[in-house]
Amino acid sequence: MPLTHTRDLFAKALKGKYALGAFNVNNMELLQAIIEACEEEKAPVMLQISKGAREYANPVYLKKLIEAAVSLSTIPIAVHLDHGDTFELCKQCIDEGFTSVMIDASHECFEKNVEITKKVVDYAHKHNCVVESELGHLVGAQFDDGEEGGCHSASGHYTVPEEAVKFVKESGCDSLAVAIGNSHGAYKFKGTQHLDLERLKLIKKALLDAGMGDYPLVLHGASSVPKDLAVKINQFGGNMGEDTAGVPEADIEVARRIGCTKVNIDTDLRLAMTAAIREVFATKPKEFDPRKYLGPARKATKELVRHKLKNVLCCAGHAFD
Ligand code: G3H
Ligand code: 13P
Ligand code: ZN
Repeated sequence: MPLTHTRDLFAKALKGKYALGAFNVNNMELLQAIIEACEEEKAPVMLQISKGAREYANPVYLKKLIEAAVSLSTIPIAVHLDHGDTFELCKQCIDEGFTSVMIDASHECFEKNVEITKKVVDYAHKHNCVVESELGHLVGAQFDDGEEGGCHSASGHYTVPEEAVKFVKESGCDSLAVAIGNSHGAYKFKGTQHLDLERLKLIKKALLDAGMGDYPLVLHGASSVPKDLAVKINQFGGNMGEDTAGVPEADIEVARRIGCTKVNIDTDLRLAMTAAIREVFATKPKEFDPRKYLGPARKATKELVRHKLKNVLCCAGHAFD
């Protein structure tokens, strides 16, 4: 089965009211874990590749690994550039056949963000590719400095609904990543902060009211950072801080129902993999066959992905809709 276009995955997800899991791929074990989980749960999937992943694994290796996954599986698979930081990187990925790219110029001022995004959109649309862009800035709630946050939007780091409409109209992007208190990594919140789901509702409504229909929104930083994984990592010699914190799965569920069609998860897979590897190293110190620790790591990651597909994203069972 060839790659499935991101635009088709989005259309079906919007219709079926589920979220697509967008999982980061850096090596073979991660890819196999994701694909096996999606295959077993009959879920469509977006594989995303960051600039760092391309530097780590080499774009050709990643491309060939994904080709292998596509040829061995039956589920719909799209390939997406995560956090493309330049037009040139986006162009390379478009030319390589990615079905979507993200241009992340969210650190720039509004006008510059529009200009860079539009340049990528113009190239992508001529080459059968769709574009995700980001408005607002993902510093996360723990560094939230509200209205003083900077020039990214009138509301500091957060996405402003009216600006989202203007941004989508002017840039022509096909999906929009929002900043609603979300952030990357394993330390997302301090104390009682959480996602601004009311803001998410207003963004979705503003786009609808502006005639953009059921416009797809993207939630970055959607790892839940399960406590048991942090505890396990520390139990077996790691040193995760006391203050690990992720997005509660209940919040992701609400975000999905409001209209986050693509949900980005990377950190949780890293944690699952690390915990499993540490366990082998700690309990079997004589072991030195990489298959004996990468195998359990792959299995643990697969189980984590299965849980997300079934219980959080609700995309399980939708592969062949
Ligand atoms: O949002 C970032 C993703 O987790 C990818 O991380 O740039 O370290 O590959 P990376
Ligand atoms: P997490 O760090 O929460 O997994 O977010 C991943 C992400 O947004 C990738 O773009
Ligand atoms: Zn991200």
